[in-house]
Amino acid sequence: MNRNHFVNHNLSEDRQTFVTHLECSLTGERYEADQLHRLSWAGRPLLVRYDLDGLKQSIQRQTIEARETDLWRWRELLPVRKTQSIVSLGEIETPLIPIPRSGGRNVLVKDEGRLPTGSFKARGLVMAVTMARELGVTRIAMPTNGNAGAALAAYASRCGIETVVLCPEETPEVNVREIAQQGARVWRVNGQIDECGAIVGKGAAEGLWFDFSTLKEPYRIEGKKTMGLELAAQLEWELPDAIFYPTGGGTGLIGMWKAFDELERLGWIGSKRPRMYAVQAAGCAPIVRAFDAGVEFAERWEDAATVAAGIRVPKAVGDFLILRAVRESGGRALAVGDPAILAAVDEAARKDGLLLCPEGGAVLAAYNQAVRDGIVDAEERAVLFNCATGLKYPLPPADNWLDRNGAIDLTQL
Ligand SMILES: Cc1ncc(COP(=O)(O)O)c(C=O)c1O
Repeated sequence: MNRNHFVNHNLSEDRQTFVTHLECSLTGERYEADQLHRLSWAGRPLLVRYDLDGLKQSIQRQTIEARETDLWRWRELLPVRKTQSIVSLGEIETPLIPIPRSGGRNVLVKDEGRLPTGSFKARGLVMAVTMARELGVTRIAMPTNGNAGAALAAYASRCGIETVVLCPEETPEVNVREIAQQGARVWRVNGQIDECGAIVGKGAAEGLWFDFSTLKEPYRIEGKKTMGLELAAQLEWELPDAIFYPTGGGTGLIGMWKAFDELERLGWIGSKRPRMYAVQAAGCAPIVRAFDAGVEFAERWEDAATVAAGIRVPKAVGDFLILRAVRESGGRALAVGDPAILAAVDEAARKDGLLLCPEGGAVLAAYNQAVRDGIVDAEERAVLFNCATGLKYPLPPADNWLDRNGAIDLTQL
């Protein structure tokens, strides 16, 4: 057998890189590339910028199309300089699954549950950890509702970076255990994710570790951006009419919006943009409240509570970027209650055989509500993000039991 048969060229070949600098997302102030960065001086997320004209001259969309389909096919649009820095666990292109019965005939679910560690957090964390490794970080801490911590633990352990992970006490048990199993030191904290973040920030200020909170380092968003790049390629460079995204910290929504701009600047897509729908749970909907009030920044949501732990984020550092993308796109921020979330998970599983996570259920519930309210036309093409595998979450009991030694009425099974 040819021993090189399984080589993924995206992981073995050196490729040209095009990062020029980073930029404050609020003020536009410039920062140097190839350095460790946190927030900007203005306390806002930094965005990575590329020489898109140079990239356009050097490679064509067909070059990308000819490569293996995983996340690293997008290398020229990513910040990693050295191929040997990459810490991969197999970041596959996730499929688009039709759900004609629980959604509709124009609905596709981008099923991110198939990624390493079972969630889309792998996209952001593979990039952030790879960059941390490239830039010499040895210790990282993070507040997490579960999935991000699991992805951090896996990638960091793989390349020998130590991790400390703090979870709100209501984080699903499986998440806390998978974080521990994958080599992090994990703690439950009697508070919400931003309160865990305050502890992480304090340790970072004391020089104990590097702070990996959502959007407080610039590279996670570049990993999440690949959802938008991938979607464009999968749909033959024509974006859908609407995207429904479960929004906590909003990295993915902001990342996709950035991806679409970069693709248009490269001439790989036209000017058509999807309407972006930021979906939150009614029990924690700071972005929805800010959207409805027409304001630029969101107030903290007090007493946040929802079954969809991933979107239980009372205060997002990137609130203004989420709101900006949603408004520019002509979309909206929408809230759905927990009963609707659980009913949607149930319906997708029973009717279409697709086990969504609760956040994915929130998105499906919001989509169906939006169709009923006339916000979205059922004839339009919509893409819904299911961001984690439904297998990570508690499922309804199934406790039928048969005594094989007794009489069994087979017609009743
Ligand atoms: C399953 C799931 N969906 C959605 C989110 C929210 O993602 P974002 O921070 O990109 O808004 C999370 C974040 O923890 C999650 O775990």
